[in-house]
Amino acid sequence: MSAVSLENISLRIGDNQILKDVSVEIKPGETLVLMGKNGSGKTMLLKTLVGLFRPQKGSAKIFGKDVHALPAQELNTLRRNIGYVFQKSGLFDSLHVWENIVFALRRFHSLDENALKQKASECLNRTGLKDVEDKFPSELSGGMQKRAGIARAIAMDPQLLLFDDPTAGLDPVLSDAIANLVIEIKKKLGSTAIVVAHDFKVAYKLADRIGLMVSGKLHGILSREEFQTTTEPYFEQFREGKLTGPIPVIE
Ligand SMILES: Nc1ncnc2c1ncn2[C@@H]1O[C@H](COP(=O)(O)OP(=O)(O)O)[C@@H](O)[C@H]1O
Ligand SMILES: [Mg+2]
Repeated sequence: MSAVSLENISLRIGDNQILKDVSVEIKPGETLVLMGKNGSGKTMLLKTLVGLFRPQKGSAKIFGKDVHALPAQELNTLRRNIGYVFQKSGLFDSLHVWENIVFALRRFHSLDENALKQKASECLNRTGLKDVEDKFPSELSGGMQKRAGIARAIAMDPQLLLFDDPTAGLDPVLSDAIANLVIEIKKKLGSTAIVVAHDFKVAYKLADRIGLMVSGKLHGILSREEFQTTTEPYFEQFREGKLTGPIPVIE
């Protein structure tokens, strides 16, 4: 069974056709990297996959469960098994870092405050953060906020990891560190992952396959090796960053 299965997903909001007939199967343990121009629909695809948006057409299955057909209770259970790192860290400004990390855990497990804080420290340590438990997110640097977002996503040991551009705005050294971290976490949990990436170095490091989004369509998916060498016009234009080619510069 596929870990993730999207079949002809189409999403429209108002007059904006955001996703067009997106289909993809992701095998358990696989890492699919999603690339594509800003506004091509990468974030909305992840959000639709987890049921934050309801497509007009098509179906999304995670571990065989039809996300948009599940009763609310079962959807919550399924989401416990999904670690989602949002493009913006998505941390609650008014909660201490440690409370952010165990926000979901608190709802699903009857751990006392000490055990929760202990668990938060473990997750933070796994992402290379120390002594930040009692700080507020605004007191952390951008890179540290990214790490805290990842710490929160892995707190429940999820079998599906969704990372929305985890290295956006980070310097190359920190990007590499985050990429290594993603690899380490995946290895430990044996999870399947979808990673939105804008950085080719990060993409090549993480991807089994790379999918290219163009104007709401999943134009194609290639193995990492194929992606690096293909002369298919869309892939080549994107990879080489050319202005001319089939991908519209302005939409
Ligand atoms: N919350 C939202 N409500 C309505 N439209 C949105 C929302 N978020 C994004 N969009 C639109 O969906 C399209 C795809 O956006 P997005 O998925 O964020 O692109 P990407 O992540 O590839 O940069 C854009 O046209 C954007 O304006
Ligand atoms: Mg995005």
